[in-house]
Amino acid sequence: MTEKREVVWHQGEVSSAERQALPGFRHQPFVFWFTGLSGAGKSTIAFALERQLISMGIACCVLDGDNIRHGLNRDLGFSPLDRKENIRRVAEVARLMMHAGLIVITSFISPFRDDRSMARSIIGTEHFREVYLNASLDVCERRDIKGLYRKARSGEIPGFTGISSPYELPENPDITIDTSFLTIDSCVKSLLSNVRL
Ligand code: ADX
Repeated sequence: MTEKREVVWHQGEVSSAERQALPGFRHQPFVFWFTGLSGAGKSTIAFALERQLISMGIACCVLDGDNIRHGLNRDLGFSPLDRKENIRRVAEVARLMMHAGLIVITSFISPFRDDRSMARSIIGTEHFREVYLNASLDVCERRDIKGLYRKARSGEIPGFTGISSPYELPENPDITIDTSFLTIDSCVKSLLSNVRL
């Protein structure tokens, strides 16, 4: 988009501190940014973490890759450019939700380092916790919960992450969880022990 646009930011009057003083919002909002291969357990752990936070009385919500691609991002595919746009929109939405007072858990493969670093800068590095859900391709492919790896191997799904499209390992994630061995419960505990609520 290169045309000049006459749009001016309108600053609201309510501060973050004022919003957080409301009942039910007594925590510092931030974003858990989950990344990892399809089948690494991102959605399962994201929704289990949401369950746990809600039962602790903490306002939160999940933005999940497959779900968002049913609505907001239904016009996007899996080319590198579309994945970038997917991540850009989700980072913007996560930022809005965080400013509304929620802890936000995003669950997207987000395979490219540059896109994750774009998300970090949209959200603000001080609010961004990159969580690498580490399960090897071998483990994810053996799980093949949605049957997509089989389709990707047979060529039915082109550009599938890990098979015919790259996954760039996080270089310095804030938290790494090995989902090959841990139970869902211990993954959630480990995430909670890594953050100040
Ligand atoms: S991302 O790469 O743009 O971050 P996202 O997390 O939104 O991906 O969506 C990934 C989900 O889309 C996978 O869990 C899988 O169910 C589905 N999917 C369909 N096609 C592909 C593909 N080519 N590569 C990866 N995932 C795919």
